[in-house]
Amino acid sequence: AAPAYTFIARTSEVEPDYPLQVQVEGRPPLAVVCLEGEYFVMDDTCTHGDASMSEGEIVGCEIECPFHAGRFDIRTGAATAYPCTKALMVYPVKVEGDQIFAALDAGHCADDAA
Ligand code: FES
Repeated sequence: AAPAYTFIARTSEVEPDYPLQVQVEGRPPLAVVCLEGEYFVMDDTCTHGDASMSEGEIVGCEIECPFHAGRFDIRTGAATAYPCTKALMVYPVKVEGDQIFAALDAGHCADDAA
């Protein structure tokens, strides 16, 4: 079956290079990032500690954790800088008009790729 897409945010709410925290009822918070005009949705909670990635900084195509400066690749969720070693869950995104949707049941973890 095709994955169900959940409304995440309006494109106008997501400034380029500034992650936005989004709360969807019944699940941990998400972060949505606009990178070069493309939108990415990932878990907001760092895999190293209890930090909110949406309070972190975007550096190139990586997002840096505000706590210990670990990093993840925004496009894949893969951990790219110590002390993060476990990937962030990322979700398929669909943009319709000015609305961003994500398939929250179809999350992907780069660590599982192999
Ligand atoms: Fe994110 Fe430690 S909590 S790097």
